[in-house]
Amino acid sequence: MTVPSTIETRQPASVGDPRWWRNAVIYQLYPRSFADGNGDGIGDLAGVRASLPYLRGLGVDALWFTPWYASPWVDGGYDVADYRAIHPDLGTLAEAEALIAEALDLGIRTIVDIVPNHVSSAHPWFAEALGSAVGSPARDRFWFRPGLGTSGELAPTGWVSDFRGGTWTRTTDADGRPGEWYLHLFTPEQPDLNWDNPEVRAEHEAVLRFWFDRGVAGVRIDSAALLVKDPTLPEVGQAGRHPYVDRDGVHDIYRSWRAVADSYPQPKLLVGEVWLEDRARFANYLRPDELHTAFNFDFMTRPWDAAELRDSIEATLASHRPVAATPTWVLSNHDVTRPVTRYGRSDTSFGFGAKRFGVPSDESLGTRRARAAALLTAALPGALYVYQGDELGLPEVELPPEQISDPMHFRSGGVDPGREGCRVPLPWTRDGSSHGFGPDGIPAWLPQPRHWDGISVEAQEADPASMLSLYRAALALRHSEPALRSDDFGWLDGPTEQVLAFRRGSPETGRLTCLVNFGPRPVEIPPGHRLVLASQPNIDNKVGPDVAVWLRPFAETNNTQEKEK
Ligand code: GLC
Ligand code: CA
Repeated sequence: MTVPSTIETRQPASVGDPRWWRNAVIYQLYPRSFADGNGDGIGDLAGVRASLPYLRGLGVDALWFTPWYASPWVDGGYDVADYRAIHPDLGTLAEAEALIAEALDLGIRTIVDIVPNHVSSAHPWFAEALGSAVGSPARDRFWFRPGLGTSGELAPTGWVSDFRGGTWTRTTDADGRPGEWYLHLFTPEQPDLNWDNPEVRAEHEAVLRFWFDRGVAGVRIDSAALLVKDPTLPEVGQAGRHPYVDRDGVHDIYRSWRAVADSYPQPKLLVGEVWLEDRARFANYLRPDELHTAFNFDFMTRPWDAAELRDSIEATLASHRPVAATPTWVLSNHDVTRPVTRYGRSDTSFGFGAKRFGVPSDESLGTRRARAAALLTAALPGALYVYQGDELGLPEVELPPEQISDPMHFRSGGVDPGREGCRVPLPWTRDGSSHGFGPDGIPAWLPQPRHWDGISVEAQEADPASMLSLYRAALALRHSEPALRSDDFGWLDGPTEQVLAFRRGSPETGRLTCLVNFGPRPVEIPPGHRLVLASQPNIDNKVGPDVAVWLRPFAETNNTQEKEK
């Protein structure tokens, strides 16, 4: 593999800071698609290790790895067979330990993914449960239940999976007769764990310690609001709280995890994947003795619209304030449509249920907006998540159905294109059959579009106007500008309703203004400001449609030119 890279001398400022995550830039890495180090067409830890200089040059503080564990890979690794083993396609535990240490030497921390709601059906616990009697302790680690109907032929509930279809699968007993059913909120290969079982709790705390002891700085918690179920198994929509989403008992689990995290000399970070519309309930996860942060999916799913995004930013800041938690800003991840594609569509919002093949997108408009969105999110107070390839402005790839393996596609009856369009291997070089993802002549596990030479790391490094150069400049400023490291935030009057403007920092730290034009006409840069960074080349001191700028007020006019609301 050839890895073009520029090593900058800047050391990430977060090293040694115990609260480093409060304004960190965290890069989400889907290791199967990042870089192939051993030439088998599959991304691996060797590829990541060889690319660490690239990640350092980008200016990230931490890497979040989606699951890298032993797994049948039915759901992109979110079906874990062994939490203490690395998937053989990706490498070995020794390589993971080396990677964690090498990254830290460059000032980059590592976060691993923990999937507590379910395990793989290939996990030894599940095999043991299937081989054990009804009512046995081995079955109590899961949700085994008799079926309804005269001979147990009906599933215990009618709950519908997020992946569509039912959530129960019937087992077959040793004598060949149909037996109990087991619960799986996702695929049948992902049986749900029973969090009322003390062994389940103890095992996960041991897994946390296993990785914390190996030097990881924190964990991302998958499906964090789903762990606790109502054991009476009511239908969804009956009186009372939802039978499995956001039940009160889940907070006890995170309180004990927080105690584990805080027992380390450098406390470990807990990041939740929490999809909840109720902001007060969302904030409950971020109380001082629970998780440190959770992904801001509200912001991620909103359309490209000034009023919508302003509303999301205000609501985010307001809901985090009472619990003194750090907001997060996320434009995409391994589950959602790439911003460049999404923002070029007529409907620029994101919703899982709405995904279809063949939705047209104006990718040059989408790219323009994704560049502005990068500067908007990088200027907001809190932690910033960057999903691999977004720094290159990769579009969503529409894969031919025969190349799709995502269960979301199959379980939708082929209507949903699935989530692999954002998991296509990265292009590193202009040339090579996989653009440097792996050696020439070795096909990557998912094909890249032909024309990805121009969007490769190599091509973009040579171009000061590229998306990669924009990301590098923005992340470098996030580190070097005290205003962007402060908690200070205030809205400013924009010239029109379709312009969002806010300032960061104070007279002490110095101030920085971010202005984003969502409207159709260019607006003037406000008087008394000097341009620091623009998402597009700056024409005539104007901010064009779908352009963001970072501005510095002239020192002598610092306090007089800004009109704060
Ligand atoms: C989370 C993951 C997703 C996975 C699901 C089930 O939503 O982000 O990729 O399929 O959980 O584990
Ligand atoms: Ca490989």
